[in-house]
Parts: sequence; C-alpha cells; structure tokens
Amino acid sequence: MENPAGARAYARADFAAVNQGFVDRFRARFPEFVGGRAVDLGCGPADIPVRLGRALPGLQVTAVDGSAAMLAEARRAIAAAGAAPRIALVRARLPPLPFPPRAFDAILSNSLLHHLPDPLPFWHEVERLARPGAPLLVMDLARPASPAAARALVELHAAVEDPILREDFYRSLLAAFTPEEVRRQLATLSLRLECALVSDRHWVVSGRR
Ligand SMILES: C[S@@+](CC[C@H](N)C(=O)[O-])C[C@H]1O[C@@H](n2cnc3c(N)ncnc32)[C@H](O)[C@@H]1O
Repeated sequence: MENPAGARAYARADFAAVNQGFVDRFRARFPEFVGGRAVDLGCGPADIPVRLGRALPGLQVTAVDGSAAMLAEARRAIAAAGAAPRIALVRARLPPLPFPPRAFDAILSNSLLHHLPDPLPFWHEVERLARPGAPLLVMDLARPASPAAARALVELHAAVEDPILREDFYRSLLAAFTPEEVRRQLATLSLRLECALVSDRHWVVSGRR
C-alpha cells in the first residue's frame, strides 16, 4: 500500500459491492445519523467516504491514511466525484492520531485492522475519538480456517484482479482476525460493541460510543 503500483492496483480493483454494502449497513444501523463530522480510519482511495457523502449531504469526512500513494489515489477519486469540499484528507499513521478526544460524531473503518501489529491501540483510538453516542462501524476481513481456504476465497472473489492485488488479498486474509478474537479485543474497552460475521470473509463491529 506504500508504493504507487500497489495503491494504483487497489484503487482500480472493483470493491463497489463491498464498499456500498458498508455504506448501506451504516445507514440501516444508524438511520438517525444524517450528518456531522465523521472520520474514516485507513481510508485508502476514499471510495467509502465518497459513497457515504453522496448518501448524506450533511456529512463532513476526515479521511485518514498513512500512505502517501494511497492518498494520491484518494485525491483523484474525490476530485472526480466533486466531493473535495466535504472530504478532508489527512496523512497520519495510527495510533495515535493528531485529533483531540471526542473530535468526531461518527467513526468508520474498513479493512484496516489486519494491517496493524497490535489491534488494541486501534480500538482505544476509536473510543478516544468518538463523542459520546457516536455511531461506530468497523469492518475487516475474517481469517479463514486454513491457507487453502484463503486461496479458495481469492479464487472466488478476485479471480480476474491484478496479481499484486490477489497476493495482497491472500496475505490480508491470513493476517486478519476471527470474530472471536475481535470480541476478546472489544472486551478490553468500556464500550458495548457487537461483532458479527456478515459474509464468507468479513466481520462487522457496530455500536455507539
Ligand atoms: C486494505 S486498505 C483499505 C482501504 C479502504 N478503507 C477501503 O475500504 O477500500 C488499508 C489502508 O490502510 C492504510 N493503513 C495501513 N496501516 C495504517 C496505519 N497504521 N495508519 C493509517 N493507515 C494505515 C493503508 O495505507 C491502506 O490504504
């Protein structure tokens, strides 16, 4: 994700169904949230902020990523969508992030957790950044039972994708957490968040600060 070729391959891949699914899930779970300040942690090419911004005209998103190459892709996508006034890009690696406590009305993150060497500081940062009552939606890959099962998922969902992306997907599946591991991570927080397996390769954590 740090090099331009990897970022470009990721930005060109077709994540439309997964990303729109994230947005639809957020809106279905938090129908009263129609605007405010949201942060997207590990925003990548910013497809989710663009889609959520389209659905919620009152939304301002701070989209955070540690990779300059990925943020260059995000900048292009935001400009193409005409969304620049409502999506601010910030280059930062978490944890921690350069924002004060309770800075955001909603916290989003997709496919970041498995990149982090230690997941607990991520969850503590989610807790720190959210104002009381803020909606939280975090999604990531779920680790399959074996490397063979991971290969099968790559074939099923990424057969026609760039080889760089296929290898990244395989390694990401093996680096990911299971829902049971995520529940143990969440038990260290003072928040009551649910973790559910929502597809053959994703779990979702949702709840309120
Ligand atoms: C798999 S991509 C997901 C991108 C986007 N959320 C999506 O759903 O398409 C993971 C992103 O997290 C970023 N990332 C990895 N570790 C990070 C860290 N410690 N802090 C901030 N961003 C990080 C990577 O640069 C990459 O853009």
